[in-house]
Amino acid sequence: MDRKRFFESLDNIKIFSGNANRPLAQKICEYLSIPLGDAYVGRFPDGEIDLKVNEDVRGVDIFLIQPTCPPVNENLIELLMFMDCLRRASAARITAVLPYYGYARKDRKDEGRVPITAKLVANIIVEAGADRVLTVDLHAAQIQGFFDVPVDHLLAFPVLCNYYQNLNLPDLVVVTPDVGGIKIARAYSKKLNVRLAIVDKRRTGPEETEIGFIIGDVKDKNVIILDDLIATGGSIYQAALILKDKGAKDIYVGATHPVFCGSAGEKLLAAPIKEIAVTDSIPLNSKGKGLGSKIKVLSIAGLLGEAIRRIHTNESVSSMFSETPETQPVFGLM
Ligand code: R5P
Repeated sequence: MDRKRFFESLDNIKIFSGNANRPLAQKICEYLSIPLGDAYVGRFPDGEIDLKVNEDVRGVDIFLIQPTCPPVNENLIELLMFMDCLRRASAARITAVLPYYGYARKDRKDEGRVPITAKLVANIIVEAGADRVLTVDLHAAQIQGFFDVPVDHLLAFPVLCNYYQNLNLPDLVVVTPDVGGIKIARAYSKKLNVRLAIVDKRRTGPEETEIGFIIGDVKDKNVIILDDLIATGGSIYQAALILKDKGAKDIYVGATHPVFCGSAGEKLLAAPIKEIAVTDSIPLNSKGKGLGSKIKVLSIAGLLGEAIRRIHTNESVSSMFSETPETQPVFGLM
């Protein structure tokens, strides 16, 4: 699409943001060449959220950018209140743009008497006014079905894969740190034309994992460990140790969501890892910044901006992930 048609297609659309990731919202607006919507999202003296949209939204197609990253409950309530406000102000359609969907890991009853919070939160988001959801690398793809509205589920794959293609690492193996990541790791191995290895991980506590064995050969290979998110860093730390033990050369890590909590900073600094590439789905916190030159942040603003444009103009979103050469460069359009 030429630039003239690109801009002409964007009428009657507004982008708003809560406080969770305003820099990403700004970048998405830059991609779309539209200003960020004017709204106040502050706090009352008692800590309750105070919110006001400062411009007319009647009949407008709204995209509200708000990852539900830590502080997850604060960010979630901001999202819900913002949608309630937009709905009552007669917005034509509200798309909740969740670059990171928190609570996603609580997606089933893995023991008795526990909630399924990923479903509960999806219910609340729809109830508060979301007509659609746009999200990136859900912890499990099935979570799309928890929302009873259309969900566009993007993958950070084109952004991360493009980065690793440009690094052009020799003798490379792609590693998934648990069996749940095999499908996406296989896509990387196919695109990068390298072999795949699998780490057999079992979670033994919120911060602890236990690693059994590795399927595949990593001896004298450079490896990229790929994961959807890094929280306490336990999974990546353990995986890096065993990969080194098995003779891996340089270890790179690629993860979409830099949650970085608990002892992530210490663990990731101590781990035998050369570089960790993450996206800006979540702003980098102090633990992430503390990793210094070990951390590399790649932007998914173009990916989200392009998806927003296509949703607004009723064009295919899934074709962004097809293998056609024309679709890939579009994320870097501006
Ligand atoms: C697990 O299934 C996920 O894909 C991540 O590997 C995990 O949630 C990361 O958590 P942590 O960094 O605390 O090990």
